[in-house]
Amino acid sequence: MTKRVLVTGGAGFIGSHVCDLFLDRQWSVDVLDDLSNGKRQNVPAAARLVVADVRSAEAGRLVADGEYDAIVHLAAQMDVRHSVADPVFDASINILGTLQVLESVRRHARGARPRIVFSSTGGAVYGDMGTPPTAEASAKEPDSPYGIAKLATEYYLAYYARIHELNTVSVRFANVYGPRQDPHGEAGVVAIFCGRILAGQPLTIFGDGEQTRDYVHVADVAEAVFAAATGAPPQGTRVDERAFNVGTGIGTSVRELAATLLRAAGDAGATLAIEFAPERRGEQRHSFLAIEQAHRVLGWAPRVSLSDGLAETYSWFAARAATAALSRT
Ligand SMILES: NC(=O)c1ccc[n+]([C@@H]2O[C@H](COP(=O)([O-])OP(=O)(O)OC[C@H]3O[C@@H](n4cnc5c(N)ncnc54)[C@H](O)[C@@H]3O)[C@@H](O)[C@H]2O)c1
Repeated sequence: MTKRVLVTGGAGFIGSHVCDLFLDRQWSVDVLDDLSNGKRQNVPAAARLVVADVRSAEAGRLVADGEYDAIVHLAAQMDVRHSVADPVFDASINILGTLQVLESVRRHARGARPRIVFSSTGGAVYGDMGTPPTAEASAKEPDSPYGIAKLATEYYLAYYARIHELNTVSVRFANVYGPRQDPHGEAGVVAIFCGRILAGQPLTIFGDGEQTRDYVHVADVAEAVFAAATGAPPQGTRVDERAFNVGTGIGTSVRELAATLLRAAGDAGATLAIEFAPERRGEQRHSFLAIEQAHRVLGWAPRVSLSDGLAETYSWFAARAATAALSRT
């Protein structure tokens, strides 16, 4: 029988790639998205889109009645700066929205209960506590309401697994980049740099550019989500036993990222400069993830190299800009 997945936030950047992958593996895909940030055209034609807020009664009914084998919960307020400006709004979607999904499954799900995969963040839950690569069990001290909400939600998922026997998994994404990326997200720098190259503008780096991040391609992220939704269930019920870092395990400096992207852009990048602006306060110095737990339990490992991934991403942004220019003529 065809397996069924509900992807909340499926009209967004990562969600649209997750939908593509499940469809490719012959699953039936429903998308729940309020289109507050996602786009209708991101949703593959073969998926069914329900436009609703994850906190609404309509969403609750969909989760309860959909008879899903898996629910991939990506719908979120994902802008760290917005969470600082309005932590109540952030928590209402990122904590209460997820609780609504969990409660709908616990109280009402018809048939077998679905595996619930929650998108957490490896970039924002750990904070600047230890020396990377950061493993799942490392100390956590989130520096933003966004990171706090994601970590709090992970504790809810572990609690629902322990007390109510729900089948929950958290995936802690590093800085995800790739086609359809939004410049406001956690790894927005790749989309921002692509936009500047295409506009013939220099790339701006804040600070000395030696700060590192873990840039993981969205195709690898979609594979990790699929493995988390379909692979062996996590063994323990502690929060870090039910969570998997999804990154590359490699720290790349912003300076190196900019240089690699300029090379990937060929002629368009050849003459562009890199400019430096004052460091932004509170920015983490180094952040990259240990990914052995996902490899050991889920059999997942990233495959896309940074140079290939950036080249593909730049080509996608260039093609989109060319189409937009054509439609204006
Ligand atoms: N992009 C990254 O680098 C990154 C890193 C770590 C974690 N994450 C997490 O991954 C998930 C997906 O992120 P993304 O980068 O694809 O962001 P995105 O904004 O492109 O996708 C999120 C989607 O959720 C939808 N949404 C927002 N609020 C909603 C609501 N109340 N009800 C229904 N739908 C709603 C938006 O319209 C959007 O389509 C998020 O949970 C984010 O926190 C992303």
